[in-house]
Amino acid sequence: MIALACDHTGIALKREMMKLLDSMGLEWKDFGNNVEASGDDYPVYGYRAAKAVADGECDRAILICGTGIGIGIAASKVKGTRVCTCSDVYSAELSKRHNNSNILTMGARVVGTDLAKMIAEHWLTATFEGGRHQRRIDMITAIENGTYTEDPALGGNEA
Ligand code: RB5
Repeated sequence: MIALACDHTGIALKREMMKLLDSMGLEWKDFGNNVEASGDDYPVYGYRAAKAVADGECDRAILICGTGIGIGIAASKVKGTRVCTCSDVYSAELSKRHNNSNILTMGARVVGTDLAKMIAEHWLTATFEGGRHQRRIDMITAIENGTYTEDPALGGNEA
């Protein structure tokens, strides 16, 4: 199940994402907004979708605002999310293969419809490679949980 959400700037692109997911045979759930008027607040919708991912109700989320940045920052505050804001295919694919990103955000005022669909398709079909990348994800999770400590054996790069 893919969570979808946007603010007023992203409604049209979110509808394109719905069509893309349908064509890929993937189920989706819409967490709003669907009112085409400014004055809405992207954290509301980013939070709802991110929480659905963190709680396990949805596997991943695709979130859209004007830049993809605000809704991404909001979503990244929800524990357990790994958010990537992408406007190119390479970053989107690698964010899954290396960073196991579970939330993709895009800017409706940044990317065109066709590019956004390509970005989402690459992200949705990529798989996490594990191995050394899992170690790094574990470190990120430890930072999030406040349990991360630097390995003294690594030394410092301050000099
Ligand atoms: C709304 O005007 C705009 O600020 C919002 O969509 C987003 O780009 C924020 O990061």
